Amino acid sequence: MELELRIPREDEYGAFGQAIASAHGGDLPAGLLDRIRPVTELDRCLIALDGAEVVGTAEAVRFSLTVPGGTLAAGGVTSVGVLPTHRRRGLLTRLMRRQLDDLHAWGEPLAVLWASEGGIYHRFGYGLASWNARIEAERDRFALRHPAEPEGGVRLVGHAEALELLPAVYDRVRVATPGFFARSALAWECVTLADDEHERQGAGPLCRAVLELDGRPEAYALYRVRRAWERGVPKSRLEVAEALATSPVAERELWRYLFGVDLMETLSSRRLAIDHPLFLLVQEPARLHLSVGDGLWLRLIDVAAALAGRGYAAAGTLRLGLTDAFCPWNEGTLTLEASPGGASVTPGGEPELVLDVSDLASIYLGGFTFAALARLGRVEERCPAALARADLLFRTDRNPWCPESF
Ligand SMILES: CC(C)(COP(=O)(O)OP(=O)(O)OC[C@H]1O[C@@H](n2cnc3c(N)ncnc32)[C@H](O)[C@@H]1OP(=O)(O)O)[C@@H](O)C(=O)NCCC(=O)NCCS
Repeated sequence: MELELRIPREDEYGAFGQAIASAHGGDLPAGLLDRIRPVTELDRCLIALDGAEVVGTAEAVRFSLTVPGGTLAAGGVTSVGVLPTHRRRGLLTRLMRRQLDDLHAWGEPLAVLWASEGGIYHRFGYGLASWNARIEAERDRFALRHPAEPEGGVRLVGHAEALELLPAVYDRVRVATPGFFARSALAWECVTLADDEHERQGAGPLCRAVLELDGRPEAYALYRVRRAWERGVPKSRLEVAEALATSPVAERELWRYLFGVDLMETLSSRRLAIDHPLFLLVQEPARLHLSVGDGLWLRLIDVAAALAGRGYAAAGTLRLGLTDAFCPWNEGTLTLEASPGGASVTPGGEPELVLDVSDLASIYLGGFTFAALARLGRVEERCPAALARADLLFRTDRNPWCPESF
């Protein structure tokens, strides 16, 4: 008999959380569910039930996502799991079907997620849309490539002042950076600035550093120190959770501060843009020990709305032929009339480029180009020079970046 799949009731919230933890092979941290309950919309969650037991879960958090030239509603897909006892029977497929149908019905043209494994989501039309960079830097090798006199000052602030000052800085970076999503006051309070044992993961308390230039907050860093000593020598690690700056000077002074914290052997950061200014700010990029992995995965749920809601680098027309096995309403040809000020999309036309919706998803935020996908054989060019024109239109001046996994 087919298992029931539906929105959880309030009294099933605990079982929903327990199932997510079990699917990921871990414990449910004490207090976590209560802490995040205010930012959990149960009617955007799904459970699969075997009798009374929750055996599968998914959630689509309400996002306002920055895309090139604007923001669009998106589902922030998270809490995806199926118990080991119920795997490979199509439960995830049913959860994804229901979730994408719901998001489509709600008029949200995009879905985004961080994937635990890259092999899972292609079949549902997701494409890798951004890289995520990490560093594990040698602190004693930090030097600025273009030394400059220090400017401004850094203050360590408490939780309440951080709640007051940080969101405005975040929002200035957010609106300019595809891949960022808006944070509600509740999300700042319950998630970003949370500092319980679960968030600390054995490191010290959350430090909230605000950089002020001419008395105005222009950058901040959230970090923890993981203390360690070896035979009397400090070997601690400064773990940056988030460091955002609104200008080149603010960027320089923020990282100068972070690398200046005493007793640290290394400085790590796990979620940086692939083109982060830090990489060329320092004299020795190799000493940052950069590594790269998957960032955001993106699904175009309503391709026409997604393309019409994005900005373009130039004016021009492009006719795209799309395949989309999981959401067939996107299949067919559409004509994009793009300009830097806006765009319109109409169905029909003779396709100049043909590609799958998951590949267009990789291109959408500006993380990959049509030309790069054509080199893989993933874009068919049916009209000479259409590839170059497409890349001219979709070009962005910065790589997409999502600073927070969810
Ligand atoms: C990933 C997970 C949700 C899959 O659930 P499931 O119910 O077993 O998935 P389905 O039965 O619907 O599988 C659908 C397809 O995806 C494939 N698939 C499932 N998990 C996969 C994985 N981890 N890697 C690659 N392919 C995977 C299946 O083989 C199946 O392929 P097919 O259509 O060609 O037969 C489940 O294994 C799980 O909970 N894993 C641990 C937690 C986790 O990683 N969650 C995702 C967080 S982003």
